[in-house]
Amino acid sequence: MSRQAQQQRLIRTVIGQLECDRFLGGVWLPIGTVGPAATDAATPAVRKPGKMSRAKAEDIQDKRERLAAIASRVAKCRKCPLHESRLNPVPGQGNPNARIVFVGEAPGETEDRQGKAFVGRAGMLLTNIIEAMGLTREDVFIANILKSRPPSNRDPQATEIAACIPFLQEQLLVIEPDIIVALGAHAARTLLETNAPIGQLRGQLHEYLPEPLGRPIKLLATYHPAYLLRNYVKETRMKVWQDMQRVLTELDLPVPKKS
Ligand code: URA
Repeated sequence: MSRQAQQQRLIRTVIGQLECDRFLGGVWLPIGTVGPAATDAATPAVRKPGKMSRAKAEDIQDKRERLAAIASRVAKCRKCPLHESRLNPVPGQGNPNARIVFVGEAPGETEDRQGKAFVGRAGMLLTNIIEAMGLTREDVFIANILKSRPPSNRDPQATEIAACIPFLQEQLLVIEPDIIVALGAHAARTLLETNAPIGQLRGQLHEYLPEPLGRPIKLLATYHPAYLLRNYVKETRMKVWQDMQRVLTELDLPVPKKS
Protein backbone atom coordinates (compact mmCIF):
# COMPACT_ATOMS: atom_id res chain seq x y z
CA MET A 1 0.00 0.00 0.00
CA SER A 2 1.36 3.44 -0.90
CA ARG A 3 2.17 5.94 1.82
CA GLN A 4 -0.66 8.18 0.66
CA ALA A 5 -3.13 5.30 0.76
CA GLN A 6 -1.93 4.40 4.27
CA GLN A 7 -2.41 7.99 5.42
CA GLN A 8 -5.89 8.12 3.94
CA ARG A 9 -6.78 4.85 5.61
CA LEU A 10 -5.51 6.14 8.96
CA ILE A 11 -7.49 9.37 8.60
CA ARG A 12 -10.64 7.40 7.73
CA THR A 13 -10.13 5.16 10.78
CA VAL A 14 -9.64 8.12 13.13
CA ILE A 15 -12.67 9.96 11.75
CA GLY A 16 -14.74 6.77 11.98
CA GLN A 17 -13.68 6.28 15.60
CA LEU A 18 -14.46 9.89 16.52
CA GLU A 19 -17.88 9.68 14.87
CA CYS A 20 -18.51 6.41 16.61
CA ASP A 21 -17.51 7.73 20.05
CA ARG A 22 -19.62 10.83 19.54
CA PHE A 23 -22.66 8.83 18.64
CA LEU A 24 -22.21 6.08 21.15
CA GLY A 25 -22.07 8.76 23.82
CA GLY A 26 -25.34 10.33 22.77
CA VAL A 27 -28.56 9.64 21.01
CA TRP A 28 -28.29 8.40 17.45
CA LEU A 29 -29.54 11.31 15.43
CA PRO A 30 -30.15 11.04 11.73
CA ILE A 31 -30.00 14.81 11.15
CA GLY A 32 -30.89 17.62 13.49
CA THR A 33 -32.34 16.53 16.79
CA VAL A 34 -35.19 14.20 17.43
CA GLY A 35 -38.06 15.48 19.52
CA PRO A 36 -40.29 13.35 21.69
CA ALA A 37 -42.80 11.10 20.03
CA ALA A 38 -46.46 11.83 20.65
CA THR A 39 -47.30 10.34 24.02
CA ASP A 40 -50.88 9.29 23.31
CA ALA A 41 -49.86 6.45 21.03
CA ALA A 42 -53.00 4.53 20.20
CA THR A 43 -50.89 1.49 19.38
CA PRO A 44 -48.18 0.56 21.85
CA ALA A 45 -44.80 -0.70 20.70
CA VAL A 46 -45.31 -3.84 22.72
CA ARG A 47 -48.68 -5.49 22.85
CA LYS A 48 -49.46 -4.43 26.43
CA PRO A 49 -53.03 -3.42 27.06
CA GLY A 50 -53.42 -0.99 29.98
CA LYS A 51 -55.18 -3.52 32.14
CA MET A 52 -53.94 -6.86 31.03
CA SER A 53 -56.46 -9.64 31.13
CA ARG A 54 -55.47 -12.79 32.94
CA ALA A 55 -55.53 -14.70 29.65
CA LYS A 56 -53.18 -12.17 28.07
CA ALA A 57 -50.77 -12.30 31.00
CA GLU A 58 -50.76 -16.10 30.78
CA ASP A 59 -50.16 -15.91 27.03
CA ILE A 60 -47.08 -13.70 27.57
CA GLN A 61 -45.79 -15.98 30.32
CA ASP A 62 -46.23 -18.92 27.97
CA LYS A 63 -44.23 -17.13 25.28
CA ARG A 64 -41.50 -16.35 27.82
CA GLU A 65 -41.26 -19.99 28.84
CA ARG A 66 -41.21 -21.23 25.25
CA LEU A 67 -38.41 -18.77 24.42
CA ALA A 68 -36.48 -19.94 27.48
CA ALA A 69 -36.91 -23.55 26.33
CA ILE A 70 -35.50 -22.63 22.89
CA ALA A 71 -32.58 -20.86 24.59
CA SER A 72 -31.72 -23.97 26.59
CA ARG A 73 -31.77 -26.08 23.44
CA VAL A 74 -29.45 -23.52 21.80
CA ALA A 75 -27.07 -23.95 24.75
CA LYS A 76 -26.97 -27.73 24.23
CA CYS A 77 -26.77 -27.62 20.43
CA ARG A 78 -23.83 -29.43 18.79
CA LYS A 79 -25.13 -29.34 15.21
CA CYS A 80 -22.20 -27.31 13.89
CA PRO A 81 -18.59 -26.90 15.04
CA LEU A 82 -19.14 -23.35 16.32
CA HIS A 83 -20.12 -24.67 19.76
CA GLU A 84 -16.50 -25.74 20.21
CA SER A 85 -15.02 -22.26 19.84
CA ARG A 86 -17.75 -20.14 21.39
CA LEU A 87 -17.59 -18.91 24.97
CA ASN A 88 -21.36 -18.60 25.34
CA PRO A 89 -24.42 -19.29 23.25
CA VAL A 90 -26.26 -16.11 22.22
CA PRO A 91 -29.90 -17.08 21.69
CA GLY A 92 -31.22 -13.50 21.61
CA GLN A 93 -33.17 -11.58 24.19
CA GLY A 94 -35.95 -9.08 24.69
CA ASN A 95 -39.68 -8.79 24.98
CA PRO A 96 -41.51 -12.07 24.35
CA ASN A 97 -44.50 -10.04 23.19
CA ALA A 98 -42.57 -7.61 20.98
CA ARG A 99 -44.08 -6.21 17.82
CA ILE A 100 -40.62 -5.65 16.34
CA VAL A 101 -37.84 -8.25 16.12
CA PHE A 102 -34.39 -7.09 15.02
CA VAL A 103 -32.31 -9.84 13.42
CA GLY A 104 -28.56 -9.54 12.91
CA GLU A 105 -25.94 -11.87 11.52
CA ALA A 106 -24.03 -13.55 14.34
CA PRO A 107 -22.59 -12.72 17.75
CA GLY A 108 -19.28 -10.86 17.86
CA GLU A 109 -16.62 -10.92 20.55
CA THR A 110 -18.53 -8.92 23.19
CA GLU A 111 -21.73 -10.87 22.55
CA ASP A 112 -19.80 -14.13 22.86
CA ARG A 113 -18.41 -13.02 26.23
CA GLN A 114 -21.75 -11.81 27.59
CA GLY A 115 -24.13 -14.31 25.96
CA LYS A 116 -26.33 -11.44 24.74
CA ALA A 117 -27.07 -10.20 21.22
CA PHE A 118 -25.89 -6.76 20.10
CA VAL A 119 -24.08 -5.55 23.21
CA GLY A 120 -20.81 -4.46 21.56
CA ARG A 121 -20.13 -1.34 19.50
CA ALA A 122 -22.68 -2.21 16.82
CA GLY A 123 -25.11 -3.04 19.59
CA MET A 124 -24.68 0.37 21.18
CA LEU A 125 -25.50 1.97 17.87
CA LEU A 126 -28.54 -0.30 17.55
CA THR A 127 -29.65 0.84 21.03
CA ASN A 128 -29.36 4.44 19.90
CA ILE A 129 -31.37 3.70 16.77
CA ILE A 130 -34.09 2.00 18.83
CA GLU A 131 -34.17 4.95 21.23
CA ALA A 132 -34.35 7.42 18.34
CA MET A 133 -37.48 5.50 17.32
CA GLY A 134 -38.98 6.38 20.70
CA LEU A 135 -38.59 2.81 21.96
CA THR A 136 -36.31 0.93 24.33
CA ARG A 137 -34.50 -2.39 23.96
CA GLU A 138 -37.03 -3.82 26.41
CA ASP A 139 -39.82 -3.11 23.91
CA VAL A 140 -38.29 -5.22 21.17
CA PHE A 141 -36.65 -8.62 20.68
CA ILE A 142 -33.09 -8.81 19.35
CA ALA A 143 -31.59 -11.96 17.86
CA ASN A 144 -29.23 -13.27 15.21
CA ILE A 145 -29.23 -15.80 12.41
CA LEU A 146 -26.37 -17.66 14.13
CA LYS A 147 -26.45 -18.26 17.86
CA SER A 148 -22.69 -18.84 18.19
CA ARG A 149 -19.78 -16.60 17.27
CA PRO A 150 -17.90 -17.57 14.11
CA PRO A 151 -14.13 -17.50 14.75
CA SER A 152 -12.62 -14.05 14.12
CA ASN A 153 -16.10 -12.81 13.16
CA ARG A 154 -15.90 -14.39 9.74
CA ASP A 155 -19.05 -14.62 7.62
CA PRO A 156 -21.52 -17.34 8.55
CA GLN A 157 -21.20 -20.45 6.39
CA ALA A 158 -24.18 -22.02 4.62
CA THR A 159 -23.93 -25.20 6.73
CA GLU A 160 -23.89 -23.17 9.96
CA ILE A 161 -26.93 -21.17 8.84
CA ALA A 162 -28.77 -24.36 7.90
CA ALA A 163 -28.01 -25.86 11.33
CA CYS A 164 -28.96 -22.75 13.30
CA ILE A 165 -31.88 -21.14 11.46
CA PRO A 166 -34.55 -23.45 12.97
CA PHE A 167 -33.97 -21.74 16.34
CA LEU A 168 -34.76 -18.30 14.94
CA GLN A 169 -37.72 -19.67 13.01
CA GLU A 170 -39.11 -21.09 16.25
CA GLN A 171 -38.50 -17.83 18.09
CA LEU A 172 -40.44 -15.95 15.43
CA LEU A 173 -43.30 -18.44 15.62
CA VAL A 174 -43.49 -17.87 19.39
CA ILE A 175 -43.20 -14.07 19.37
CA GLU A 176 -45.35 -13.52 16.26
CA PRO A 177 -44.03 -9.98 15.74
CA ASP A 178 -45.74 -7.56 13.37
CA ILE A 179 -42.47 -6.76 11.67
CA ILE A 180 -38.93 -8.11 11.41
CA VAL A 181 -36.06 -5.71 10.82
CA ALA A 182 -33.32 -7.62 9.03
CA LEU A 183 -29.98 -5.98 9.82
CA GLY A 184 -27.62 -6.43 6.92
CA ALA A 185 -27.22 -8.75 3.99
CA HIS A 186 -26.86 -12.05 5.84
CA ALA A 187 -30.07 -11.61 7.84
CA ALA A 188 -32.07 -10.27 4.89
CA ARG A 189 -30.88 -12.90 2.42
CA THR A 190 -31.36 -15.78 4.83
CA LEU A 191 -34.86 -14.80 5.89
CA LEU A 192 -35.97 -13.93 2.37
CA GLU A 193 -34.16 -16.89 0.81
CA THR A 194 -32.53 -14.78 -1.86
CA ASN A 195 -29.04 -13.82 -2.99
CA ALA A 196 -30.00 -10.27 -3.91
CA PRO A 197 -27.61 -7.55 -2.68
CA ILE A 198 -28.59 -5.63 0.44
CA GLY A 199 -28.68 -2.39 -1.58
CA GLN A 200 -31.53 -3.89 -3.55
CA LEU A 201 -33.36 -5.40 -0.59
CA ARG A 202 -33.17 -2.47 1.81
CA GLY A 203 -35.85 0.14 2.14
CA GLN A 204 -38.56 -2.12 0.78
CA LEU A 205 -41.23 -4.02 2.60
CA HIS A 206 -40.96 -7.78 2.10
CA GLU A 207 -42.76 -10.74 3.59
CA TYR A 208 -41.22 -13.45 5.71
CA LEU A 209 -43.10 -16.72 5.64
CA PRO A 210 -42.68 -18.54 8.96
CA GLU A 211 -42.03 -22.26 8.82
CA PRO A 212 -44.07 -24.38 8.74
CA LEU A 213 -47.48 -22.72 8.90
CA GLY A 214 -47.27 -19.33 10.56
CA ARG A 215 -48.89 -16.19 9.20
CA PRO A 216 -46.69 -14.00 6.95
CA ILE A 217 -44.71 -11.34 8.80
CA LYS A 218 -43.65 -8.02 7.29
CA LEU A 219 -39.91 -7.71 6.88
CA LEU A 220 -37.90 -4.60 6.30
CA ALA A 221 -34.22 -4.89 5.46
CA THR A 222 -31.78 -2.18 6.41
CA TYR A 223 -28.04 -1.76 6.73
CA HIS A 224 -26.25 -3.56 9.55
CA PRO A 225 -25.19 -1.20 12.39
CA ALA A 226 -21.58 -2.35 11.92
CA TYR A 227 -21.76 -1.21 8.29
CA LEU A 228 -23.26 2.06 9.47
CA LEU A 229 -20.36 2.52 11.90
CA ARG A 230 -17.92 2.02 9.06
CA ASN A 231 -19.87 4.35 6.74
CA TYR A 232 -21.02 6.99 9.14
CA VAL A 233 -22.04 9.48 6.52
CA LYS A 234 -25.24 11.46 6.26
CA GLU A 235 -26.51 9.51 3.27
CA THR A 236 -26.31 6.10 4.99
CA ARG A 237 -27.68 7.46 8.27
CA MET A 238 -30.60 9.01 6.40
CA LYS A 239 -31.36 5.74 4.65
CA VAL A 240 -31.41 3.82 7.93
CA TRP A 241 -33.52 6.49 9.57
CA GLN A 242 -35.99 6.40 6.66
CA ASP A 243 -36.18 2.62 7.08
CA MET A 244 -36.93 3.01 10.79
CA GLN A 245 -39.58 5.63 10.06
CA ARG A 246 -41.17 3.14 7.69
CA VAL A 247 -41.17 0.50 10.43
CA LEU A 248 -42.92 2.87 12.83
CA THR A 249 -45.45 3.90 10.21
CA GLU A 250 -46.22 0.28 9.33
CA LEU A 251 -46.99 -0.33 13.02
CA ASP A 252 -49.05 2.87 13.42
CA LEU A 253 -46.50 4.06 15.97
CA PRO A 254 -45.65 7.75 16.26
CA VAL A 255 -42.55 8.86 14.40
CA PRO A 256 -40.44 11.11 16.67
CA LYS A 257 -40.32 14.56 15.15
CA LYS A 258 -37.23 16.50 14.29
CA SER A 259 -37.21 19.69 16.33
N1 URA B 1 -23.34 -8.18 14.93
C1 URA B 1 -24.40 -9.00 14.78
O1 URA B 1 -24.83 -9.29 13.67
N2 URA B 1 -24.97 -9.47 15.89
C2 URA B 1 -24.57 -9.17 17.09
O2 URA B 1 -25.18 -9.65 18.06
C3 URA B 1 -23.47 -8.30 17.23
C4 URA B 1 -22.87 -7.82 16.13
